[in-house]
Amino acid sequence: MNILEIIAKKRDKKELTKEEIEYFVKEYTKGTIADYQASALIMAIYINGMNEREAKDLSLSMAYSGDVLDLSELGDNIVDKHSTGGVGDKVSIILLPIIASLGIPVAKMSGRGLGFTGGTVDKLESIPGYRTNIPIDEFIENVKKIGISMIGQTLNLAPADKKLYALRDTVSCVESIPLIASSIMSKKIASGANKIVLDITVGKGAFMKTQENAQELAELMTKIGNLAGKEVICVFTKMDEPLGKAVGNSLEVKEAINFLKGFMPKDLKDVVFELGANMLKLAGFGEDLNKNKDMIIENIINGKAYEKLIQMVKNQGGDITYINDINKFEKAKYIIPVESKKNGIIKEINAEEVGKLACLLGAGRLKKEDEIDSSAGIVLNKKTGDYVKENEIIAYLHTNKEEIIEYAKNKILEIWKI
Ligand code: URA
Repeated sequence: MNILEIIAKKRDKKELTKEEIEYFVKEYTKGTIADYQASALIMAIYINGMNEREAKDLSLSMAYSGDVLDLSELGDNIVDKHSTGGVGDKVSIILLPIIASLGIPVAKMSGRGLGFTGGTVDKLESIPGYRTNIPIDEFIENVKKIGISMIGQTLNLAPADKKLYALRDTVSCVESIPLIASSIMSKKIASGANKIVLDITVGKGAFMKTQENAQELAELMTKIGNLAGKEVICVFTKMDEPLGKAVGNSLEVKEAINFLKGFMPKDLKDVVFELGANMLKLAGFGEDLNKNKDMIIENIINGKAYEKLIQMVKNQGGDITYINDINKFEKAKYIIPVESKKNGIIKEINAEEVGKLACLLGAGRLKKEDEIDSSAGIVLNKKTGDYVKENEIIAYLHTNKEEIIEYAKNKILEIWKI
């Protein structure tokens, strides 16, 4: 078997065998297949697709390219969540401490930013000292000790996905149903939870732009999960404009902290509560989603969820004085208000455009090895449906790149459709 034949087969729209997929995954992980060859195959898959069997084989090969965790010592109900990606999506940082505060063990591995979307690991790393890269024993010990640990996809977990995920990001091959489904499910299979809530984002700021595509992705992920013995619930959430107000790593962490203190933007609250209620359902708290939502609100009001976040950050080596006083987070050198040029109602804020602009300001990566500027991003002062007057501030740019400010200001005026 050789990689040239495999690339040619997919280029010519043929089906790959299980053995060919396993060979590619194994050899690429080892480094014997070069990035440029893997890129060619990924592009061929992106263009010509994969059938259900191929996607399942890709997912399982990636899942078993490294360690597969056994979390059974933590209990019978290990519930996980995963989002297919969005802009301003800080849901995990809010929701998982809430879930842990209700006594459900949370052992969560998250990804980095991908394409125009942000990643939870990059966000957590904006908390000074927070270690996202800890040994597996410590990860499990943390969950046993305080009920929660949130780390990166480090360890030796689905290393093939880790490598391919970063590669896809740099060759514009993210938005593919079989690639997304196999990537997400490989991590879910390897990371040991037996029950999973999948947040399938749909809209202008999601990889899935239409409900039909989202449905297809949901079905494929559910099938892959079921095949691996996992119980899966898919929740569809809208992602046309950014979720909440902040886009960018430390900006989003600050919004997450404020949320747990009771400042809950409506759109963000709806997503957190819907996913949370379904996680509680999987954990055996009952079928009534409204009752489950009441439990969530209770633990926000009584401060238990916030306390759990503090415990988690402390346990991971993070400096909790930043959580207690969010003004301590380093600010970007330039915080530039952008004012509306006219009166009117905002009818659209395209989340993908906002995500791309936030990346340019420093919040994301253009190349695999790029460093992230955790202080960079965009804060939305006005959202879709809001009335705005001429000269009123619609957004703030946060950046350390002076040269980009004029371009970014004009771009904001284009993106906010008034
Ligand atoms: N999230 C993932 O983990 N993988 C993808 O491919 C897309 C979103």
